[in-house]
Amino acid sequence: MDGLERRTDRLARRAATVVAAAGLPLTACVYDGPEPTCPPDGTPLTWAEDAGPFYDRYCTRCHASDLEGMARQGAPAWADFDSYAAAVTSNGPTGPGDLGSVWQQVAVLGTMPPNTWVRPTSGEVARLGEWLACGQPE
Ligand code: HEC
Repeated sequence: MDGLERRTDRLARRAATVVAAAGLPLTACVYDGPEPTCPPDGTPLTWAEDAGPFYDRYCTRCHASDLEGMARQGAPAWADFDSYAAAVTSNGPTGPGDLGSVWQQVAVLGTMPPNTWVRPTSGEVARLGEWLACGQPE
């Protein structure tokens, strides 16, 4: 290896390390608690008090019906979480063993929200899971 080749090789390795370090939190599962279920007596959690504020805090800066084009930062046009109706539709149907796309993205894949510096806590994700498991009460 001559000097230039060595330098190129070193840069490539360093780039790979940076990519791996940056990529890790994006793919890491944020939630390692028990699979959420709806308590037998139902849930006190509601859209108004719990899920709505959760989505506002972590999702609506990209997924909101008043955002268009670049302002959506790549969020698909069909996925909005800025109203109860939009959030329920965007999540898709839920049922036993399937809490919809939101649970998949947020808890299973850990890909949403996509940035790594403002993430929901495990407790917040668990509460969202209970709300989803109870049929997304308004
Ligand atoms: C910084 C912008 C941003 C934020 C914040 C964000 N998303 Fe996304 N979301 C995206 C982008 C970009 C995509 C498209 C990703 C892709 O196609 O790989 C996406 C895709 C999705 C999808 C569709 C995935 C699919 O099935 O193709 C869902 C559901 C989703 N986001 C839910 C959420 C939820 C819930 C939150 C909050 C916890 C959230 N997102 C926060 C940008 C964002």
